[in-house]
Amino acid sequence: MTRIAVLGATGYAALELIKILLRHPEAEIAAVTSRQEGRPHVAMIHPSLTGRLDLRLEDLSPAEVSARAECVFSCLPHGASAAMVSPIVDAGARVVDFSADYRLNDADVFAEWYGQKHVDPGRLGKVVYGLPELYRRQIVGATLVANPGCYPTAAILPLAPFLKAGLIDPKSIIIDSKSGISGAGRTMKLTTHYPECNESVSAYNVGRHRHTPEIEQILSAAAGTAVEAIFTPHLVPMDRGILATCYARPISPISEETALQTLRDFYADEPFVRVVDHLPGTKDSLGTNFCDVTARVVRDRLLTISCLDNLVKGASGAAVQNFNLMFGFPETTAL
Ligand SMILES: NC(=O)c1ccc[n+]([C@@H]2O[C@H](COP(=O)([O-])OP(=O)(O)OC[C@H]3O[C@@H](n4cnc5c(N)ncnc54)[C@H](OP(=O)(O)O)[C@@H]3O)[C@@H](O)[C@H]2O)c1
Repeated sequence: MTRIAVLGATGYAALELIKILLRHPEAEIAAVTSRQEGRPHVAMIHPSLTGRLDLRLEDLSPAEVSARAECVFSCLPHGASAAMVSPIVDAGARVVDFSADYRLNDADVFAEWYGQKHVDPGRLGKVVYGLPELYRRQIVGATLVANPGCYPTAAILPLAPFLKAGLIDPKSIIIDSKSGISGAGRTMKLTTHYPECNESVSAYNVGRHRHTPEIEQILSAAAGTAVEAIFTPHLVPMDRGILATCYARPISPISEETALQTLRDFYADEPFVRVVDHLPGTKDSLGTNFCDVTARVVRDRLLTISCLDNLVKGASGAAVQNFNLMFGFPETTAL
């Protein structure tokens, strides 16, 4: 059994993670952390865990966490995460970080988009990006894995095969994404307050969403040349799910059948990417670790449409997929 600690265990991503780990035959949850006072029982915060996990939430130091666990899942916000993760990795524990802290290679790019200096800049560029479909070999045996953002996974999976094959113009990409409200986390904000977002769909952070440099970094690596993407996220009044419609100009004319076959060939052996002929909807992958992708050609433009559950393939399912690879368990265990 591998002893696990979950940091930021009161959040949405952590709850989904705990539920997956409870059915993992090789994982034992040994600690769950929160800054809340009084060491509340985890079921007081997450009633759905009643009778399933007998642990109290504790405000533990990095040294205490690394003494209690061999693998740490950090479900903390960016900034707070690296401050915990850095000493935990130094102490010898292995970590899957849900935050954006270790996804970007460049501390200046991090400071520009996240508005703060990175607390552990020396590690940037050396941490594997936890998208098994592109980086499986590097994830196997890794000490620290940067779990991807939910929007980036939904955009990178459909676009990477076309960029790797040199089939689309790397400067022509438009990513139009819609997310359920849980993508913003459990922490209260005015924009995700029920009367503000119910019965309303709105774009936000146009041209400045923090997932833009992450998407461009990973797609540029896939393309072998700089990729520029216009990424426009929208908030949709549903609990969970992401739908991404991506547009790109083919380098030379491409048929819809060739586009679909490009996806089918690329993902032929992938357990969690389903290349579908129909137009996928968020309910198809709800509560699962699948990302459903398809392609269309309209007026000589390539369109990809992809869906996933932001809390599973977009966060906790991907994290357990990475954990399985890091520790040598079958990749689909508990998923
Ligand atoms: N939601 C998603 O769909 C999604 C998808 C991909 C990645 N992520 C990433 O996963 C992480 C967790 O996301 P989430 O949606 O679960 O967030 P969340 O629901 O807001 O939970 C985060 C938890 O971290 C703790 N926390 C907040 N601020 C903190 C601070 N300054 N220092 C220490 N602890 C703090 C809070 O617990 P206490 O107040 O109890 O201490 C909070 O419950 C984030 O980095 C997020 O970007 C989320």
